[in-house]
Amino acid sequence: MSKEKLLFSLLLDISSMNKEIGTERAQLELPKLICTLLEADGCALYFSKSDRDGLFLSKHYSLPKGHVFVDTWQKHWSPLSDCAVYINNHEMAKSFAEDNSFKTCLILPLHIGGKIAGVVLMGWKSTCPVDELSPKDQQLCQLIAMLLSDVYCVYPLISKLKQRETNLAALYRKTEDDLETSRKKVSLELHDEVGQVLTSILLQLKLLQQSDDLEYVKGRLGGLHHITLEALDEVRRISQNLRPNLLEKLGLQATVGAHIKEYSENTGIEVELRTHNLGERIAENLETIAYRAVQEGLTNVARHSGANKVIISLTIKGSNLFLQIIDNGTGMKKSDVYGTGLLGMRERSTRAGGKFWLVNKVDQGLTINMLLPLV
Ligand SMILES: Nc1ncnc2c1ncn2[C@@H]1O[C@H](COP(=O)(O)OP(=O)(O)OP(=O)(O)O)[C@@H](O)[C@H]1O
Ligand SMILES: [Mg+2]
Repeated sequence: MSKEKLLFSLLLDISSMNKEIGTERAQLELPKLICTLLEADGCALYFSKSDRDGLFLSKHYSLPKGHVFVDTWQKHWSPLSDCAVYINNHEMAKSFAEDNSFKTCLILPLHIGGKIAGVVLMGWKSTCPVDELSPKDQQLCQLIAMLLSDVYCVYPLISKLKQRETNLAALYRKTEDDLETSRKKVSLELHDEVGQVLTSILLQLKLLQQSDDLEYVKGRLGGLHHITLEALDEVRRISQNLRPNLLEKLGLQATVGAHIKEYSENTGIEVELRTHNLGERIAENLETIAYRAVQEGLTNVARHSGANKVIISLTIKGSNLFLQIIDNGTGMKKSDVYGTGLLGMRERSTRAGGKFWLVNKVDQGLTINMLLPLV
């Protein structure tokens, strides 16, 4: 078969995977398909993780005898051409496999957003059937590379975005539910606590209105004064429970401190707060993100970890706020998946331009890390 025909049938075969493009199966199958059609001895995909790092082996396939591809591809990264390259230089070709077995190679660069995101490398122990490439062959190679870029770069991005959208929707629902719950709580407290006291004041005032006995009225006024103060206290307590107000007024350190105190009293779990350089007030949204993370982290510890000790560390490190919540519980199990709590923390940190990561040690505990840029 001519080179052109070979490349064309590869293009057709990849296109015919239409329905599967974007699936894990397509990603695994394609190197094998390329090897089979072009009679290559091995095919590997390399991708870059960042602009500087070079290329890293991601997927590979080789015939049963097996070729072990090199893990990174640093030195060939910069001179990489924009179009397909045929390599007939044994010295260079053999450097792609650890057993130095390749004599010829074909390299297809994969582009995304005008940049090279990775390459497909095909290797032959003898001559390659798609050697010197005519302009038409080059065009076919570019079309093949475009399809492969979709499979390996564009579709995974799309599915990541879809997943993010699903997470955001779940988060939105949770926020709405939380809001509804706290509305109900406040309305119940207002009704039960403040409403009761005000009704009692009203009844007593009515009694006083009907009385002509000045001594009796004076005596009752003392009692009324007392329960009015009680009502005021109750209103203060309810308003302080609306956390953001407290956070706004007292700042992060004091609010976290107050929450920890109440938490430890309720759960019996010892919590130590360590702060460093947390002198001045930081941006309001960062205080809220960190405070919500502490609340959720501690709730998770009580619900899932079996820990008896937690260390919360709040530090200003350079131009970042660094929050750590370290517990000494069971840690997360392999089967555990992120729920809205952890997703919410991650989402809020990402939105603030920060980072969120977990360090999990089975039977030793979980550490939540959150790094938030101050500006
Ligand atoms: N400190 C911890 N120790 C052990 N496992 C944990 C800890 N924190 C979280 N997990 C595990 O991670 C899972 C996800 O936590 P996440 O907070 O996202 O969801 P959740 O607590 O199950 O539900 P919610 O959406 O109400 O927060 C938990 O179900 C639990 O299995
Ligand atoms: Mg949770």
